[in-house]
Amino acid sequence: MTRHQISAKSNQHPAIRRSTAVCSALALWVFGISLSWAGPSIADAPIVIQFSHVVTPETAKGKAAMRFKELAESRTGNRVRVEIYPNSQLYKDREELDALRLGAVQMIAPSLSKLASLGGADFEFFDLPFLFKDRAAFRTVVNGPVGLSLLKKLEPSGVRGLAFWDNGFKVFTANRPLQTVGDFKNQRIRVQASRVLLTQMKSLGASVSVSPLTNVYESLKRSQLDGQENSPSNIYTQRLHEVQSNLTVSNHGYLAYAVIVNKPFWDKLPHDVRLTLEGALREATLYEHDIAEQENNRALAQIRASGKVKIYTLSADERNQWRAALTPVYQEARGRISSETFSSVNSLMGTPP
Ligand code: SIN
Repeated sequence: MTRHQISAKSNQHPAIRRSTAVCSALALWVFGISLSWAGPSIADAPIVIQFSHVVTPETAKGKAAMRFKELAESRTGNRVRVEIYPNSQLYKDREELDALRLGAVQMIAPSLSKLASLGGADFEFFDLPFLFKDRAAFRTVVNGPVGLSLLKKLEPSGVRGLAFWDNGFKVFTANRPLQTVGDFKNQRIRVQASRVLLTQMKSLGASVSVSPLTNVYESLKRSQLDGQENSPSNIYTQRLHEVQSNLTVSNHGYLAYAVIVNKPFWDKLPHDVRLTLEGALREATLYEHDIAEQENNRALAQIRASGKVKIYTLSADERNQWRAALTPVYQEARGRISSETFSSVNSLMGTPP
């Protein structure tokens, strides 16, 4: 599906989408009845998991979703069918959270930044600038008690957290070099909906805009935004490098996801099916962790090869200047994010965040 087709669909008014959904449900119902006359009964119909996400199938998340589908379908002998809707084809960022809670889709994998609206400010902990020195540090944190307690925080919203997926370090793009903190002045930068990220941009002196990923390309193209931060793989697959002249390898923040399901749906699955799906997801998660770094390295090389963007890597001195300017982000976060999260991460990483 082309970007145009995808965005035409995702730009539909929610009411139109809802009535389309109702019509489709009716059509399926009628079709189901005619099937039951013609042959297989509705009892034989597979369990359908609709998995919606906002990035392209070529990203680590997109590929891992596909791996989960293959494993889930083959290991349940097709008792389960996984339908994947990538690139905001069904729902944009905030909408997919509502759709999951309402049971309109059964599985999503939003970024941790976006999960604060469901599970509270502790999810924004992962947005703190220069928090992780490498991927291993991120994985140590999510695979330990902090990860478990975060997933538990989603349950009162009717959502079950099953796994953490990785993307990697974020870089900045803009139509000017972003090298020193002063370069952010008068720049309107898109971030995800997270108060930590808002404070980050204010501390760098930029003005800030929150919008769904799927709108970023058009907003940059029309100069409604000057720049944005994301992983190289998201930048390349959303073609953001085609509408930006500069990219700074700042690795100033981390992008990661939680794979979450509608809890009532998940709890009602037959026990053996649920166990099989959990096994399939464990394997898809290992695969996702294996490929995330290479997808970002490849994307950065492809952006470089496109010749459309000047790429600059921050020096150690510049990183230290950015780090100092970003101190207020930690102060603001300490007022909202639990001290347990700060202290568990401290003991896991061995250095105060
Ligand atoms: C994602 O990677 O799922 C989205 C990130 C973003 O909204 O920038």
